Amino acid sequence: MKLLIIGGKKFVGYHLAQEAKKRNHDVTLFNRGKTYPELLPELPTIIGDRNTDLERLADMQFDAVIDTCAYFPDQVKKAVTVLGDNTKKYLLVSSISACVTSLVGLTENDPICGLDFESTEITDENYGPLKAACEKQLTDMLGIEKSLIIRPGYIVGNRDHSDRFTYWPVMMQHMKEMIVPETDNLHIQFIDVRDLAIFMIDALEKDLNGIYLLTGPVQPLKFKDFIEACQQTINENCKLIKVNDQWLAEHNLKKYVAFPLCVDIPGFEGLHCVNINKALNAGLTTRPLEDTLKSALDWYLEYKGDINKLEVGLKPDKMERFIRLAKMNS
Ligand SMILES: NC(=O)c1ccc[n+]([C@@H]2O[C@H](COP(=O)([O-])OP(=O)(O)OC[C@H]3O[C@@H](n4cnc5c(N)ncnc54)[C@H](OP(=O)(O)O)[C@@H]3O)[C@@H](O)[C@H]2O)c1
Repeated sequence: MKLLIIGGKKFVGYHLAQEAKKRNHDVTLFNRGKTYPELLPELPTIIGDRNTDLERLADMQFDAVIDTCAYFPDQVKKAVTVLGDNTKKYLLVSSISACVTSLVGLTENDPICGLDFESTEITDENYGPLKAACEKQLTDMLGIEKSLIIRPGYIVGNRDHSDRFTYWPVMMQHMKEMIVPETDNLHIQFIDVRDLAIFMIDALEKDLNGIYLLTGPVQPLKFKDFIEACQQTINENCKLIKVNDQWLAEHNLKKYVAFPLCVDIPGFEGLHCVNINKALNAGLTTRPLEDTLKSALDWYLEYKGDINKLEVGLKPDKMERFIRLAKMNS
């Protein structure tokens, strides 16, 4: 296939390009040349800003355009105006945030969270409605037959700059002890970026269309089992000290802020309980957790190294302070 990836050098786009290249597809990238310009030198890259320079692609024909970095419906409108007639399929990387994330067991048939065609800045509140508007813009212009809309949950692993998942293997490797929350029946869902890339290239090869919610793992995973697997894989000697909700409240710690991906916020009950049957029936597979943990850790150590560069969660100095407090109370 002749593929155009809008983006292609940071995270999702980079792994898509790698997967497509591995399968000998003919891949062209389009980006501004700002983000990791040294990566993928073997692939032709057309330099331009999607907001102003898409005309540079006007004479090219593709089997599929893969849009990894659309955040505003107007960006989709501009891209489809230039590329719509010159591509057989348009794959939009959307997000689970386009859905009503309070719904447990969310499926592709459930209503979206709302539409935002107006905003020009992204906030935590409008990110989902903007993504939903990107989806609507696409299907209004191209129809659902020509559209493939992927709504990932948390995307994790190699080159994940958010550190939300990476926090756990990085801290587990560094610390002798950690406080961890008691979570009872809380689940966790995420998709390794390489599994996401495999699914998306497979889907284009199979000529799939429509909407797919995409997360994992294939077997449901409880948050406490995730933490234990992380301990077993990364550092068996790291001692876990469990703290309950009352202790967290007394110490003014918000669970989802102190412990990344531990989402127990009203309104987000469905975030880690998505029904992925449609993707599974279409061939989604997820690799072992150990593989994802190690690849996230390896990338962090190579590119950031310093534990204090973690973007999220309780950092080592604060963690040590709370460990002392937890021990005093026990
Ligand atoms: N992370 C998650 O957990 C998660 C979950 C669900 C969905 N998503 C979705 O997944 C995607 C994230 O993918 P990502 O991290 O690989 O991409 P990204 O950070 O959105 O985009 C990075 C790529 O796009 C290019 N780019 C950015 N702005 C551009 C512009 N104006 N014109 C041309 N190129 C531009 C960048 O290159 P230059 O800077 O050189 O232009 C870079 O190659 C997003 O669509 C996000 O909404 C993420």
